[in-house]
Amino acid sequence: MPLALDRVRYNSKKRFVFIASKFTICRYIFMPKMQPINRLKGFRDILPEDSHYWDFAISVIESVAQGAGLEKIEVPMLEKSDLFLRSVGEETDVVSKEMYVFDGSKNKGTSGKKDKEEQSQLALRPELTAGIVRAYIENGMQVWPKPVSLYTIGRCFRHENPQSGRFREFTQCSVEIFGESDPTIDANTIGVSWQMLTDMRITSAEININSMGCSVCRPRIKKILTDFFKKKESKLCDDCKKRLKKNPLRILDCKNEKCQALIAVAPLMIENICEDCKGHFMSVLEYLDEMGVPYNLAPNLVRGFDYYNRTVFEIITKNDTKRQNALGGGGRYDCLVEELGGEMTPAIGFGLGIDRIVEHLKTENIRVPKPKSKINVYVIHLGEESKKIALQIVKNLRKIGISVGMAVGKDTIKAQMKAADKVNALFSVIIGQREAVTNVALVRDMRDGIQETVELKELTERVFNMVEERKAEEEDYRKNKKIKK
Ligand code: HAM
Repeated sequence: MPLALDRVRYNSKKRFVFIASKFTICRYIFMPKMQPINRLKGFRDILPEDSHYWDFAISVIESVAQGAGLEKIEVPMLEKSDLFLRSVGEETDVVSKEMYVFDGSKNKGTSGKKDKEEQSQLALRPELTAGIVRAYIENGMQVWPKPVSLYTIGRCFRHENPQSGRFREFTQCSVEIFGESDPTIDANTIGVSWQMLTDMRITSAEININSMGCSVCRPRIKKILTDFFKKKESKLCDDCKKRLKKNPLRILDCKNEKCQALIAVAPLMIENICEDCKGHFMSVLEYLDEMGVPYNLAPNLVRGFDYYNRTVFEIITKNDTKRQNALGGGGRYDCLVEELGGEMTPAIGFGLGIDRIVEHLKTENIRVPKPKSKINVYVIHLGEESKKIALQIVKNLRKIGISVGMAVGKDTIKAQMKAADKVNALFSVIIGQREAVTNVALVRDMRDGIQETVELKELTERVFNMVEERKAEEEDYRKNKKIKK
């Protein structure tokens, strides 16, 4: 409070107190109100009311990933932009229009010197695959036993037009498997993505699947599509006219209505892939059938990045044709490791959009467990002396690993008891004024309200035993309940 401070500072000279206070009041009246600084467009705050949805989605993803033998990797958010140019593709929308790029040489460092790499262009990662492939090569994972199965969860950045389900900062889970081209790996990887969603009780998801061919058949597919679209060039949107010259496959991804009408009658990619790719794709479908993973054939499905070949898939929600609502997508990228400087290594992976998954959980009213408070003991006190003893108790219990909560205000015993109830404490320790002078505390079982008086010198050990017993009891109960189910 500046007013109070002014008074303290000039207390000895009353005249100053008056002037200073007047000045402060004027400042309050005439000073323009400070404008708050808002977050950037397309960036988000995840508020406590939503955090349990995030925790739930992430814990299911992690438990399925670990159950499938995937190991966790973390890669940087900032990389050299060349990494994404060479992998995702220079001409793709994600790289050419949406990537956050910085001129490294403009960053001021504290040392005054600049690293060589700071002279290059840097980019906030628009996706996670490229960084993981870089890390795979850079950390010598090529000599690890195959397959090398990795997953990560992290923030990505794309300067897109924000709208429902589409953000400039979003969180993805990425699964990447290196070193196997066998179709069982494709089916198994798709199965992992499916299990992640079904374990979250998302029942309206659908998998669309296709094969984009390989380096042998891709030139032929491109030629067939170029010939087809060239005859109808005048009907294509401006973007697709450019795509026709650079990469006709990308026309198949256009959402423009007129282009869509042409795409509907365009030659099917799947009919023009080579025999090897056809055989591989048929096996993937067969294994998916074996695993009971449902899918729709999407004979002209393409993905927006350059690195894909053969199997590609997308996970959308039923009756939802809007691309920005895809919950996930992925596919094979058998040439990417080599294209980024490593050895030829077949690979496959997928990404799931966690922001969209959370939106889906909320709008579909999918029940998500709310985290229970982990406070085992709540310490309640009344009066100054009791507060000091309470602080000692909290310190002692925390030291032996018991989670403890304590009221810090001057609430009544009743209000503190309510707080203990709210955090689902197993026990509360009460030190009233009488207890403070007699060196005892009351330990209350929050389940049935039964209280016992314990001497302060024995309190830590007694509470520890009570908490351990209760935890063991609850564990037994949970186990029995599971067995009966
Ligand atoms: P992607 O299809 O670009 O693939 O992204 C995967 C998922 O991330 C999308 O299906 C969507 O749920 C989410 N997503 C993408 N952009 C946004 C956004 N602007 N706002 C919110 N969510 C978004 C990839 O990124 C590939 N790296 C996947 C992959 C991994 N392929 C092989 N391995």
